[in-house]
Amino acid sequence: MKSIILAGGSGSRLYPLTQVASKQLQAVYDKPMIYYPLTVLMAAGVREVCLISTAGDLPRFQQLLGDGSLWGINIDYREQSRPEGIAQSFLIADDFIADDSVVLMLGDNIFSGGDNFPSAMQQFEQGAAIFAYHVKDPERYGVVEFDRFGNALSLEEKPERPRSSYAVPGIYIYDNQVVNIARNLTPSRRGELEITDVNLEYLRRGNLKVHRLSRGFVWLDAGTSSALQEASSYIETIERRQGVKIGCPEEAALVRGFITLDQFETLVAKMPDCEYRSYLTIVAAETRGLEGLRA
Ligand code: DAU
Repeated sequence: MKSIILAGGSGSRLYPLTQVASKQLQAVYDKPMIYYPLTVLMAAGVREVCLISTAGDLPRFQQLLGDGSLWGINIDYREQSRPEGIAQSFLIADDFIADDSVVLMLGDNIFSGGDNFPSAMQQFEQGAAIFAYHVKDPERYGVVEFDRFGNALSLEEKPERPRSSYAVPGIYIYDNQVVNIARNLTPSRRGELEITDVNLEYLRRGNLKVHRLSRGFVWLDAGTSSALQEASSYIETIERRQGVKIGCPEEAALVRGFITLDQFETLVAKMPDCEYRSYLTIVAAETRGLEGLRA
Protein backbone atom coordinates (compact mmCIF):
# COMPACT_ATOMS: atom_id res chain seq x y z
CA MET A 1 0.00 0.00 0.00
CA LYS A 2 1.28 3.48 -0.92
CA SER A 3 0.81 6.49 1.32
CA ILE A 4 0.42 10.24 0.98
CA ILE A 5 1.03 12.82 3.68
CA LEU A 6 -0.58 16.12 2.82
CA ALA A 7 1.41 18.86 4.49
CA GLY A 8 0.65 22.03 2.60
CA GLY A 9 -1.82 24.82 3.19
CA SER A 10 -1.15 28.39 4.22
CA GLY A 11 -1.00 27.82 8.00
CA SER A 12 -2.72 31.16 8.47
CA ARG A 13 -4.18 30.21 11.84
CA LEU A 14 -0.68 29.76 13.27
CA TYR A 15 0.66 33.10 12.01
CA PRO A 16 3.36 34.37 12.75
CA LEU A 17 4.86 30.93 13.54
CA THR A 18 4.21 29.86 9.96
CA GLN A 19 6.18 32.77 8.50
CA VAL A 20 9.36 30.71 8.70
CA ALA A 21 8.14 27.10 8.65
CA SER A 22 4.86 25.41 7.82
CA LYS A 23 2.44 24.19 10.43
CA GLN A 24 3.57 20.57 10.00
CA LEU A 25 7.17 21.54 10.83
CA GLN A 26 6.25 23.18 14.14
CA ALA A 27 7.21 21.44 17.38
CA VAL A 28 4.72 19.21 19.12
CA TYR A 29 6.53 18.90 22.44
CA ASP A 30 9.90 17.39 21.44
CA LYS A 31 9.52 16.65 17.73
CA PRO A 32 8.36 18.25 14.49
CA MET A 33 4.64 17.65 13.91
CA ILE A 34 5.29 15.69 10.70
CA TYR A 35 7.05 12.93 12.72
CA TYR A 36 3.71 11.88 14.24
CA PRO A 37 1.74 11.03 11.07
CA LEU A 38 4.87 9.60 9.46
CA THR A 39 5.41 7.29 12.44
CA VAL A 40 1.77 6.15 12.35
CA LEU A 41 2.26 5.07 8.74
CA MET A 42 5.57 3.35 9.43
CA ALA A 43 4.16 1.55 12.47
CA ALA A 44 1.41 0.22 10.18
CA GLY A 45 4.07 -1.20 7.87
CA VAL A 46 3.93 1.41 5.09
CA ARG A 47 7.28 2.07 3.38
CA GLU A 48 6.30 4.17 0.34
CA VAL A 49 5.46 7.76 1.24
CA CYS A 50 4.64 10.74 -0.97
CA LEU A 51 4.85 14.01 0.91
CA ILE A 52 2.93 16.90 -0.65
CA SER A 53 3.61 20.48 0.37
CA THR A 54 4.16 23.99 -0.95
CA ALA A 55 7.16 24.99 -3.07
CA GLY A 56 8.47 27.10 -0.17
CA ASP A 57 8.25 24.33 2.44
CA LEU A 58 9.33 21.27 0.42
CA PRO A 59 13.08 22.00 0.80
CA ARG A 60 12.62 22.18 4.59
CA PHE A 61 10.85 18.82 4.67
CA GLN A 62 13.60 17.36 2.48
CA GLN A 63 16.24 18.70 4.82
CA LEU A 64 14.49 17.11 7.80
CA LEU A 65 13.46 13.75 6.34
CA GLY A 66 15.74 13.16 3.34
CA ASP A 67 14.72 10.35 1.00
CA GLY A 68 13.74 8.17 3.97
CA SER A 69 16.45 5.58 3.28
CA LEU A 70 18.05 5.98 6.73
CA TRP A 71 14.74 4.77 8.16
CA GLY A 72 14.29 2.02 5.56
CA ILE A 73 11.49 3.83 3.73
CA ASN A 74 11.16 5.81 0.52
CA ILE A 75 9.91 9.40 0.57
CA ASP A 76 8.92 11.12 -2.67
CA TYR A 77 8.14 14.84 -2.67
CA ARG A 78 5.46 16.60 -4.71
CA GLU A 79 4.37 20.21 -4.86
CA GLN A 80 0.87 21.56 -4.41
CA SER A 81 1.08 25.04 -5.88
CA ARG A 82 -2.22 26.23 -4.37
CA PRO A 83 -4.34 24.75 -1.55
CA GLU A 84 -7.11 23.55 -3.86
CA GLY A 85 -8.38 20.77 -1.66
CA ILE A 86 -7.35 17.65 0.18
CA ALA A 87 -8.60 15.42 -2.65
CA GLN A 88 -6.21 17.14 -5.07
CA SER A 89 -3.52 14.94 -3.46
CA PHE A 90 -4.61 12.01 -5.63
CA LEU A 91 -4.15 14.02 -8.81
CA ILE A 92 -0.75 15.33 -7.71
CA ALA A 93 0.40 11.83 -6.72
CA ASP A 94 -1.33 9.77 -9.43
CA ASP A 95 1.88 8.40 -10.97
CA PHE A 96 3.22 7.65 -7.49
CA ILE A 97 0.06 5.69 -6.59
CA ALA A 98 0.22 3.90 -9.98
CA ASP A 99 -2.05 0.85 -9.67
CA ASP A 100 -1.81 0.43 -5.91
CA SER A 101 -4.15 1.23 -3.03
CA VAL A 102 -3.31 4.27 -0.92
CA VAL A 103 -3.63 5.67 2.57
CA LEU A 104 -3.88 9.44 2.87
CA MET A 105 -2.91 11.23 6.07
CA LEU A 106 -3.20 14.88 6.90
CA GLY A 107 0.13 16.14 8.20
CA ASP A 108 -1.43 17.98 11.13
CA ASN A 109 -3.34 15.06 12.65
CA ILE A 110 -1.80 13.50 15.75
CA PHE A 111 -2.83 10.04 16.88
CA SER A 112 -1.77 7.88 19.75
CA GLY A 113 -2.65 4.43 21.03
CA GLY A 114 -4.09 1.13 19.86
CA ASP A 115 -3.69 -0.89 16.70
CA ASN A 116 -6.75 0.48 14.89
CA PHE A 117 -4.83 1.64 11.83
CA PRO A 118 -2.54 -1.37 11.25
CA SER A 119 -5.47 -3.76 11.58
CA ALA A 120 -7.72 -1.69 9.28
CA MET A 121 -4.94 -1.60 6.69
CA GLN A 122 -4.41 -5.35 6.96
CA GLN A 123 -8.14 -6.05 6.57
CA PHE A 124 -8.50 -3.62 3.68
CA GLU A 125 -9.35 -5.22 0.33
CA GLN A 126 -11.28 -2.74 -1.78
CA GLY A 127 -13.48 0.36 -1.65
CA ALA A 128 -12.70 2.95 1.00
CA ALA A 129 -12.19 2.85 4.75
CA ILE A 130 -12.49 5.83 7.06
CA PHE A 131 -12.43 6.17 10.83
CA ALA A 132 -14.93 7.60 13.29
CA TYR A 133 -14.00 9.35 16.52
CA HIS A 134 -16.45 10.60 19.14
CA VAL A 135 -16.03 14.34 19.73
CA LYS A 136 -17.82 17.12 21.57
CA ASP A 137 -17.87 19.46 18.56
CA PRO A 138 -18.58 17.36 15.44
CA GLU A 139 -19.72 20.41 13.46
CA ARG A 140 -16.04 21.36 13.02
CA TYR A 141 -15.30 18.21 11.00
CA GLY A 142 -16.54 15.73 8.45
CA VAL A 143 -19.30 13.87 10.31
CA VAL A 144 -20.24 10.26 9.70
CA GLU A 145 -23.28 8.27 10.72
CA PHE A 146 -22.91 4.48 10.57
CA ASP A 147 -24.62 1.23 11.56
CA ARG A 148 -23.34 -1.40 13.98
CA PHE A 149 -21.70 -3.32 11.13
CA GLY A 150 -19.54 -0.32 10.25
CA ASN A 151 -21.50 0.59 7.11
CA ALA A 152 -21.65 4.33 6.53
CA LEU A 153 -25.19 5.74 6.41
CA SER A 154 -24.50 9.44 5.89
CA LEU A 155 -21.55 11.76 5.63
CA GLU A 156 -21.47 15.55 5.78
CA GLU A 157 -18.71 18.16 5.82
CA LYS A 158 -18.99 20.56 8.77
CA PRO A 159 -22.81 20.28 9.10
CA GLU A 160 -24.67 22.86 11.15
CA ARG A 161 -26.77 20.08 12.66
CA PRO A 162 -24.60 16.97 12.87
CA ARG A 163 -26.42 13.63 12.63
CA SER A 164 -23.90 11.95 14.90
CA SER A 165 -21.12 12.81 17.33
CA TYR A 166 -18.56 10.99 15.22
CA ALA A 167 -15.97 13.08 13.38
CA VAL A 168 -13.88 11.68 10.54
CA PRO A 169 -10.17 12.10 11.34
CA GLY A 170 -7.59 12.87 8.68
CA ILE A 171 -6.59 9.34 7.73
CA TYR A 172 -8.30 7.57 4.84
CA ILE A 173 -7.70 4.27 3.02
CA TYR A 174 -8.67 3.85 -0.64
CA ASP A 175 -8.43 1.38 -3.48
CA ASN A 176 -7.07 2.50 -6.84
CA GLN A 177 -10.47 3.87 -7.95
CA VAL A 178 -9.74 6.96 -5.89
CA VAL A 179 -7.65 8.55 -8.62
CA ASN A 180 -10.54 8.39 -11.11
CA ILE A 181 -13.02 9.58 -8.51
CA ALA A 182 -10.81 12.60 -7.73
CA ARG A 183 -10.49 13.35 -11.47
CA ASN A 184 -14.26 13.60 -11.75
CA LEU A 185 -14.83 15.87 -8.75
CA THR A 186 -15.97 19.43 -9.14
CA PRO A 187 -14.68 22.07 -6.72
CA SER A 188 -16.96 22.92 -3.80
CA ARG A 189 -18.33 26.36 -3.01
CA ARG A 190 -15.06 27.21 -1.25
CA GLY A 191 -13.22 26.22 -4.46
CA GLU A 192 -11.69 22.99 -3.12
CA LEU A 193 -11.71 19.33 -4.14
CA GLU A 194 -13.26 17.99 -0.96
CA ILE A 195 -12.21 14.72 0.63
CA THR A 196 -15.79 14.33 1.86
CA ASP A 197 -16.97 14.29 -1.78
CA VAL A 198 -14.57 11.39 -2.47
CA ASN A 199 -16.00 9.52 0.50
CA LEU A 200 -19.56 10.32 -0.58
CA GLU A 201 -18.87 8.72 -3.96
CA TYR A 202 -17.69 5.52 -2.22
CA LEU A 203 -20.80 5.72 -0.02
CA ARG A 204 -22.96 6.02 -3.15
CA ARG A 205 -21.27 2.90 -4.52
CA GLY A 206 -21.99 1.08 -1.22
CA ASN A 207 -18.27 0.72 -0.63
CA LEU A 208 -17.45 2.88 2.38
CA LYS A 209 -16.39 1.07 5.55
CA VAL A 210 -16.24 2.88 8.90
CA HIS A 211 -13.91 1.82 11.71
CA ARG A 212 -14.89 3.27 15.06
CA LEU A 213 -11.81 4.32 17.03
CA SER A 214 -11.84 2.96 20.55
CA ARG A 215 -12.48 5.11 23.61
CA GLY A 216 -8.92 5.28 24.89
CA PHE A 217 -7.58 6.21 21.49
CA VAL A 218 -6.30 9.77 21.17
CA TRP A 219 -6.76 12.05 18.17
CA LEU A 220 -5.48 15.58 18.56
CA ASP A 221 -5.82 18.57 16.38
CA ALA A 222 -2.95 21.05 16.20
CA GLY A 223 -4.55 23.71 14.03
CA THR A 224 -4.47 26.71 16.39
CA SER A 225 -1.87 27.99 18.85
CA SER A 226 -3.82 26.72 21.86
CA ALA A 227 -4.53 23.32 20.22
CA LEU A 228 -0.81 23.06 19.43
CA GLN A 229 0.04 23.82 23.03
CA GLU A 230 -2.49 21.27 24.29
CA ALA A 231 -1.12 18.60 21.96
CA SER A 232 2.41 19.32 23.23
CA SER A 233 1.29 19.04 26.85
CA TYR A 234 -0.48 15.77 26.16
CA ILE A 235 2.58 14.23 24.48
CA GLU A 236 4.82 15.47 27.27
CA THR A 237 2.56 14.00 29.97
CA ILE A 238 2.43 10.56 28.36
CA GLU A 239 6.13 10.46 27.48
CA ARG A 240 7.22 11.47 30.98
CA ARG A 241 4.86 9.03 32.64
CA GLN A 242 5.70 6.02 30.48
CA GLY A 243 9.27 6.68 29.46
CA VAL A 244 8.36 5.89 25.86
CA LYS A 245 8.14 8.31 22.99
CA ILE A 246 5.19 8.86 20.68
CA GLY A 247 5.96 9.67 17.05
CA CYS A 248 9.53 8.47 16.84
CA PRO A 249 10.28 7.28 13.26
CA GLU A 250 13.66 5.72 14.12
CA GLU A 251 12.00 3.49 16.70
CA ALA A 252 9.16 2.53 14.34
CA ALA A 253 11.76 1.62 11.68
CA LEU A 254 13.53 -0.66 14.15
CA VAL A 255 10.38 -2.28 15.54
CA ARG A 256 9.01 -2.89 12.04
CA GLY A 257 12.32 -4.39 10.87
CA PHE A 258 12.83 -1.68 8.21
CA ILE A 259 16.35 -1.26 9.60
CA THR A 260 18.60 -3.58 11.60
CA LEU A 261 19.69 -2.90 15.15
CA ASP A 262 23.20 -2.16 13.85
CA GLN A 263 21.82 0.44 11.42
CA PHE A 264 19.72 1.91 14.23
CA GLU A 265 22.75 2.24 16.49
CA THR A 266 24.75 3.91 13.72
CA LEU A 267 21.94 6.46 13.30
CA VAL A 268 21.82 7.16 17.01
CA ALA A 269 25.60 7.55 17.25
CA LYS A 270 25.44 10.42 14.75
CA MET A 271 22.91 12.40 16.81
CA PRO A 272 24.04 15.25 19.04
CA ASP A 273 24.00 14.65 22.76
CA CYS A 274 20.35 15.26 23.67
CA GLU A 275 17.31 13.75 25.31
CA TYR A 276 16.12 12.24 22.01
CA ARG A 277 19.43 10.42 21.60
CA SER A 278 19.37 9.21 25.23
CA TYR A 279 15.93 7.75 24.65
CA LEU A 280 16.99 5.92 21.48
CA THR A 281 20.09 4.62 23.25
CA ILE A 282 17.81 3.00 25.83
CA VAL A 283 15.65 1.54 23.02
CA ALA A 284 18.79 0.04 21.46
CA ALA A 285 19.97 -1.43 24.77
CA GLU A 286 16.54 -2.91 25.49
CA THR A 287 16.37 -4.42 22.01
CA ARG A 288 19.86 -5.92 22.41
CA GLY A 289 18.73 -7.32 25.77
CA LEU A 290 15.70 -8.96 24.15
CA GLU A 291 17.86 -10.38 21.37
CA GLY A 292 20.21 -11.74 24.05
CA LEU A 293 17.25 -13.44 25.76
CA ARG A 294 16.13 -14.98 22.48
CA ALA A 295 19.62 -16.29 21.60
O1 DAU B 1 -8.81 16.93 10.51
C1 DAU B 1 -9.87 16.17 9.96
C2 DAU B 1 -10.74 17.02 9.06
O2 DAU B 1 -9.88 17.49 7.98
C3 DAU B 1 -11.91 16.21 8.48
O3 DAU B 1 -12.82 15.86 9.50
C4 DAU B 1 -12.64 17.00 7.41
O4 DAU B 1 -13.62 16.18 6.82
C5 DAU B 1 -11.65 17.46 6.33
O5 DAU B 1 -12.29 18.26 5.35
C6 DAU B 1 -10.52 18.25 6.96
O6 DAU B 1 -11.09 19.45 7.52
P1 DAU B 1 -10.21 20.74 7.85
O7 DAU B 1 -11.12 21.91 7.93
O8 DAU B 1 -9.34 20.43 9.01
O9 DAU B 1 -9.32 20.84 6.57
P2 DAU B 1 -8.22 21.93 6.26
O10 DAU B 1 -8.65 22.71 5.08
O11 DAU B 1 -7.85 22.67 7.51
O12 DAU B 1 -6.96 21.05 5.82
C7 DAU B 1 -6.41 20.05 6.66
C8 DAU B 1 -4.90 20.01 6.47
O13 DAU B 1 -4.56 19.73 5.12
C9 DAU B 1 -4.21 21.33 6.81
O14 DAU B 1 -3.10 21.04 7.65
C10 DAU B 1 -3.70 21.91 5.53
C11 DAU B 1 -3.67 20.72 4.59
N1 DAU B 1 -4.13 21.10 3.26
C12 DAU B 1 -5.44 21.46 3.09
C13 DAU B 1 -5.91 21.81 1.84
C14 DAU B 1 -7.35 22.17 1.63
C15 DAU B 1 -3.26 21.10 2.20
O15 DAU B 1 -2.06 20.76 2.38
N2 DAU B 1 -3.71 21.43 0.96
C16 DAU B 1 -5.00 21.79 0.72
O16 DAU B 1 -5.37 22.07 -0.45
